[in-house]
Amino acid sequence: MTDAAFIAALSARAARIEIYLARVLQSATLAGEIERPARLMAAIRHGVLNGGKRFRPFLVIETAGLFGADEAQAMPVAAALECIHCYSLIHDDLPAMDDDDLRRGQPTVHKAYDEAAAILAGDSLLTFAFDLVTDRRNGLGGDVRAELANRLARAAGLGGMAGGQALDLAAASVPPDEDGVRMLQAMKTGALIRFACEAGAILGNASSGDIDRMRIFGETIGLAFQLADDLLDVTQTADRMGKATGKDDASGKVTLVGLRGTAWARNELDRLVAEAESLLEPFGPSGYPLRAAARFVAYRQS
Ligand code: IPE
Ligand code: IPE
Ligand code: MG
Ligand code: MG
Ligand code: MG
Repeated sequence: MTDAAFIAALSARAARIEIYLARVLQSATLAGEIERPARLMAAIRHGVLNGGKRFRPFLVIETAGLFGADEAQAMPVAAALECIHCYSLIHDDLPAMDDDDLRRGQPTVHKAYDEAAAILAGDSLLTFAFDLVTDRRNGLGGDVRAELANRLARAAGLGGMAGGQALDLAAASVPPDEDGVRMLQAMKTGALIRFACEAGAILGNASSGDIDRMRIFGETIGLAFQLADDLLDVTQTADRMGKATGKDDASGKVTLVGLRGTAWARNELDRLVAEAESLLEPFGPSGYPLRAAARFVAYRQS
């Protein structure tokens, strides 16, 4: 698959993911809910329905497809992961964290609404993700729902994304060494990307060997994803990125780009892409879209 064909596939799928998210994030209540407050719902929709790349849900669906599960089967889990990602961004932008005003080319949720709304939108999205994964009507078996919910909890929580965000903030006062940075990045960014690939394999009822292989693939492109983000923070404009750039250095964030420089980072990205591609070799041509995904992660311009 060419890189241009990959971009087209990513954006076509992003549009379908957006439609699904818009449908489930509505004011109509589900059994067991009492009311969905209109302003909170609007804040949530502002933080979710705003043109993200939808790369994590893409990975869930593409990996599921590699093992024979179709998009409709994978969509609730893909959407759940995007809800957690969007929650992580809404909270990441708060004044107590990165203090950013711009996200996906729009005011951040706490700017468009207020901090309390941003905190509660994040809380609601995190919880809603588990609603989507565990909902009996999503067509998945009980064991699969429980397994996915458990893995998602571990990827998103204190030993994963949220824990990584804590380490990321602490790193501004006590700078970690390179291994420390790699670990915090594997947590804050890698864990959700790893989950995407594991979840796809589980949805496709893959063997435990293949689930492991996809977990390692996810870890590898997860590291590349944050390394590329840190490189783009140095090399790109806010206009292009839809979020502030030049901030990591200014705010004392320790990144691998800061520690080792941009030339090293580009080499490291090449190395990670080669490693990711080699993990997909056993799948032959069926693995081409995920190989293109690995290149996209590393060489994207936004
Ligand atoms: C940004 O994620 C946050 C990081 C983990 C680096 P994305 O680059 O996937 O952001 P969106 O979802 O496309 O806006
Ligand atoms: C964000 O890392 C990681 C998470 C949101 C979990 P960054 O703080 O570098 O992400 P951006 O650059 O604000 O998107
Ligand atoms: Mg951050
Ligand atoms: Mg940030
Ligand atoms: Mg960044």
